[in-house]
Amino acid sequence: MKQKIKKIILMKGKRKIVSLTAYSKSIAKILDNYCDIVLVGDSMANVLYGHKNTHKISLQNIIHHASSVKMGVKKALFVVDMPKGTYNSLNKALKNARLIVKKTKCDAVKIENYKNNFKILKYLVQKKIPVMGHIGYTPQFKNKFKLEGQSIREINSLLDEAKLIEKAGAFAIILECLTEKASKIITNSVKIPTIGIGSSSCCDGQILVTDDMLGISGFYPKFVKKYSNLTKIIENAVKKYTRDVKSKKFPSKKYFLNGTE
Ligand code: KIV
Repeated sequence: MKQKIKKIILMKGKRKIVSLTAYSKSIAKILDNYCDIVLVGDSMANVLYGHKNTHKISLQNIIHHASSVKMGVKKALFVVDMPKGTYNSLNKALKNARLIVKKTKCDAVKIENYKNNFKILKYLVQKKIPVMGHIGYTPQFKNKFKLEGQSIREINSLLDEAKLIEKAGAFAIILECLTEKASKIITNSVKIPTIGIGSSSCCDGQILVTDDMLGISGFYPKFVKKYSNLTKIIENAVKKYTRDVKSKKFPSKKYFLNGTE
């Protein structure tokens, strides 16, 4: 097992795992100094490409962005999402996962859980591709954004899923939009780390979409804490630039390539 993956597993119960998403080198480089895991999420479909869901992002899109991210990630564990439709049979999953790993040099891939794709996860792990699981609100397969694990029956079903994902060989699981109770029970019942998004502080780590927490995506569900308002910051800079260009204040001699200053 890769050293970086071992390190993540050993963090369970010791210190919270810090994770964020990145779609480009510049952001990845900043995250790499602070995050344990950097994920190239298929959330880029909504955030970057303006799609209404994550369904139509292509393998090539993911590979292009992940190749850029790779240039910025040196220390963190580098995980890449497999897009919808790229892992719906054993052979397809293996071919596409190998392509992602080869082209992006990522440490692991992430797949969302759906029906019986534990077999797919197990197959990838057997073929030496580390896999992160993902349960709860799985946008590739569920249209409705809702809090999961509200009844005992739902909690038990999520717990079964988590245990099967662990048994299949995943090194960690994303828990998306789970109740505090469900997150706590699952986190205490599996040996691999759980990484929460909208799933309370009971998980072993947390992940957010970076563009959401920076206030630039325009999508801010209740679980997103906005750590910055980049929209405002960028708007102010663009306003100043517009003013300077119109008033001929920019570029002053200082910015001329053959200027005297
Ligand atoms: O696509 C993504 O960014 C994700 C995270 C929200 C976990 O899957």
